[in-house]
Amino acid sequence: MVVGLGTGSTAKHAVDRIAELLRQGKLKDIVGVPTSTKTYDQARSLGIPLSDLDSHPVVDLAIDGADEVDAALNLVKGRGGSLLREKMVESVSKKFIVIVDESKLVKHVGGSGLAMPVEVIPFCWNHSLKRLVNLFAYAGCVGELRKCAENGKPSVTDNGNYVIDLYFERDIGDLDEASDAILRLPGIVEHGMFIGLASSVIVASVSGITIKTK
Ligand code: A5P
Repeated sequence: MVVGLGTGSTAKHAVDRIAELLRQGKLKDIVGVPTSTKTYDQARSLGIPLSDLDSHPVVDLAIDGADEVDAALNLVKGRGGSLLREKMVESVSKKFIVIVDESKLVKHVGGSGLAMPVEVIPFCWNHSLKRLVNLFAYAGCVGELRKCAENGKPSVTDNGNYVIDLYFERDIGDLDEASDAILRLPGIVEHGMFIGLASSVIVASVSGITIKTK
């Protein structure tokens, strides 16, 4: 089985657990496809056999966290900066299971007032930021370049790109249209809306676990 290994504080637990099950012999014959260099390092140090999309272009199952999940199981991801590799892996996964706690549940992604990350090439990023903000002027959009908390320098993704965080005052409306409009802008690499990709979402809360499926 080819397993997409997610990135973030929640996905980290899933990777730990996969490694534990492998050690115990309860899981066999799997190969992991990591969605970031951080997850690659974690999985490698735990002895999980690893591969990539070049060798395994179809992933059987991916497990990852999310920053936002709405009622239609659309997601916002990438507040940890790994949206591009996550989307590459999760978009070719036959099954994509999202693991979150209930704080991640929102009414409609793109309207929560929290950051929607967009990965852009560093060249003239300010120009890209202005074009993104103009695109969503109708939703009261503002944007900012993501910076490292430690040194104030631009945060650089695993792919050598920058991240612009967009904030919307109002709902952005149709997600597919918003996605197409963003991806049509030259200089934009990918955005953090994961539309229609999740097969199911496991939500943890103090009262237990619920599973949402499409
Ligand atoms: C990484 O870029 C993200 O997409 C994470 O998967 C997402 O931010 C969830 O992370 P946490 O589990 O740390 O909240």
